Amino acid sequence: MRDFPNVYQPAGKQLFHGDDEIKGKWNRVFFRNDHPLVLELGCGKGEYTVELARRNPHANFIGMDIKGSRMWKGARRSLDEGLKNAAFLRARIEFIERLFAPGEVSELWITFPDPQPKKAKNRLVSSWFLNTYRNCLQPGGEIHLKTDSLMLHHYLLDLLKENRVPAEQATDDLYAAADLKEELAIKTFYEARFLNEGKKITYLSFKMPAEKLWVEPLYFQRGNDE
Ligand SMILES: C[S@@+](CC[C@H](N)C(=O)[O-])C[C@H]1O[C@@H](n2cnc3c(N)ncnc32)[C@H](O)[C@@H]1O
Repeated sequence: MRDFPNVYQPAGKQLFHGDDEIKGKWNRVFFRNDHPLVLELGCGKGEYTVELARRNPHANFIGMDIKGSRMWKGARRSLDEGLKNAAFLRARIEFIERLFAPGEVSELWITFPDPQPKKAKNRLVSSWFLNTYRNCLQPGGEIHLKTDSLMLHHYLLDLLKENRVPAEQATDDLYAAADLKEELAIKTFYEARFLNEGKKITYLSFKMPAEKLWVEPLYFQRGNDE
């Protein structure tokens, strides 16, 4: 993937030492336009990133994942289709603030992340991660979570309640919803597998409040990490 023009891979341990040179410059240097930037976290093979890019030529989409072998597929597909508004970023999400400047991202999708039942802080929607996303997302920027994990869905509902942030939309059975938005019916590799197993898909969206310091739901603050 080193030769793919639509893939960005920060060198070695560079991110441990400071900000990446692309931070704040994605649109100017990479996409060369001023369209809104939408980020998919843990994009895997990139189905959502590619499909959203196809449907929305006036926005830029970046799929982020640490596993190069998975994102190769989405990167190859976008190149073959000549998609100019899709890119892939190979890096750990923990470093998001070193890669995106405050307000640089307008929307976040988190698609079928590992639910991390034992370690709440490792969940991609934990208060720790939300505080890092807050430093890159525009205030009011929307965050979408699709998951088959009821535990993760309810954990995020509890987190929103604890932090007094209203959900924009929440359903524990997405495909039973009457007015399903078209973009919510895009299916990732993992989603297709879960649907085949007869699992229900949940969906939750909310807007990132400005200046909010996220805290864990009370039962986690007390040290109960189960
Ligand atoms: C269960 S897979 C889902 C992939 C894809 N979204 C889908 O639905 O098919 C979770 C993905 O998140 C990525 N991931 C998990 N934690 C990550 C982290 N801290 N930084 C970057 N990628 C991460 C994994 O490499 C994996 O590709």
